[in-house]
Amino acid sequence: MGFSLKTLFLRCIHYPSKFIYPLIPVPVPDLISGPGSITNLPESVRSQRIDKVLIVTDKGLTSIGLADKITGPLNEEKIPYCIFDGVQPNPSIQNIEDGLSIYQDNNCNGIIAFGGGSPMDCAKMIGARASNPGKPVRKMQGKFRVWRSLPPLIAVPTTAGTGSEATVAAVVSDPDTHEKFAVVDLKLVPKVAILDAELMLGLPPHVTSTTGMDALTHAVESYVGLMSTPFTRKNSLDATKIIMENLEQVFQDGSNPEKRDQLALASYYAGLAFTRTWVGYVHAIAHNMGGLYGVPHGLANAIILPYVLDASIEQAKNQLADLAVVSGLGQANYCKDVLARKFIDKIKLMNKKMGIPSFIKELKEEDIPLIVKRALAESNIDYPVPRIMNKQEMTELVNQLLP
Ligand SMILES: NC(=O)c1ccc[n+]([C@@H]2O[C@H](COP(=O)([O-])OP(=O)(O)OC[C@H]3O[C@@H](n4cnc5c(N)ncnc54)[C@H](O)[C@@H]3O)[C@@H](O)[C@H]2O)c1
Ligand SMILES: [Fe+2]
Repeated sequence: MGFSLKTLFLRCIHYPSKFIYPLIPVPVPDLISGPGSITNLPESVRSQRIDKVLIVTDKGLTSIGLADKITGPLNEEKIPYCIFDGVQPNPSIQNIEDGLSIYQDNNCNGIIAFGGGSPMDCAKMIGARASNPGKPVRKMQGKFRVWRSLPPLIAVPTTAGTGSEATVAAVVSDPDTHEKFAVVDLKLVPKVAILDAELMLGLPPHVTSTTGMDALTHAVESYVGLMSTPFTRKNSLDATKIIMENLEQVFQDGSNPEKRDQLALASYYAGLAFTRTWVGYVHAIAHNMGGLYGVPHGLANAIILPYVLDASIEQAKNQLADLAVVSGLGQANYCKDVLARKFIDKIKLMNKKMGIPSFIKELKEEDIPLIVKRALAESNIDYPVPRIMNKQEMTELVNQLLP
């Protein structure tokens, strides 16, 4: 009884949102894409009227010299910049404050985010803090709580996964509470996104596979959720098709810029989709794995995705069948149950072939009640999932992830 009343309550929020959300004018960044497109960076900096730019990146990228790919063109064009490379995976509030100090001390008036989702999200929040200096990061948690517009932000992703270059979100870790939380605001969408697959050629195979599965999770959670629109469905289907056709090959041999380019576009398309529809239980659980144990976001999603789909197959079978068809797993006239099952089995097989386990090795049984509580709190109102789970069902699901 309690469960059905709760479901009714949540659906009373989800269904009206389905009609209201598409009315929200989510900005789309100016997209510059294709191998070698990083050469357009100085022009983008100038067109955004930036006098001095802060580059936000991580030590992984400065240590392998990849950051030279952007400082080179800036040096040639004599564009002043400074670098903050202290972003950690699952960026923390402290990372944001450290970057903000460098931004303010050097009188910067624009930001380049260079890296995966971690530097991109950290850069978004440095920008949000710079233009809202009286507002601590925690006070911006949730929806539409960034008051003033950010300084111009140019996103240059070096992984093909998060789609953060297209989204309204920044995900932040709070080491004090071991939580990951999202700041969601239209002002967080970067002004420009430069997708240059040549920057991704050296991505290690396990980062290629897990970030690619993050993008697939965005496409799938957006597609099976109640809030999808024709625009988001097209982007989800395109992203899914590309990932299914290319990810395993690129995992085996990442040296082909055209295939890398396809994956970068897929990640961007999936970002365009999920930023208009929200995600689902996979992300709600994965954020806890990141917050509690530091499990990389894409790895957590890849592991959790088939479990959540297995649990939602009845409610989402038509959508999963569509995804199976674009993945080349069958014809549209096949039985939906069979197609949906094939799609989930394909994800399990991909994980296996790419060395992704079927459990979270860090997960501890005693943490499960907290994980369930936080995952349901994150998803209940916001995530329009096809099957709403209660505490017991979510507990059973998370239990399956134990090593
Ligand atoms: N804002 C959003 O919409 C959104 C969506 C999904 C995920 N996220 C967040 O993004 C973060 C994860 O981002 P991610 O998966 O891209 O990983 P990441 O940014 O944490 O990078 C992972 C590792 O890959 C390395 N790396 C990145 N690019 C490389 C390259 N080209 N060559 C060699 N090494 C490279 C980095 O140095 C780092 O060590 C999480 O915090 C997650 O919550 C945000
Ligand atoms: Fe994600």
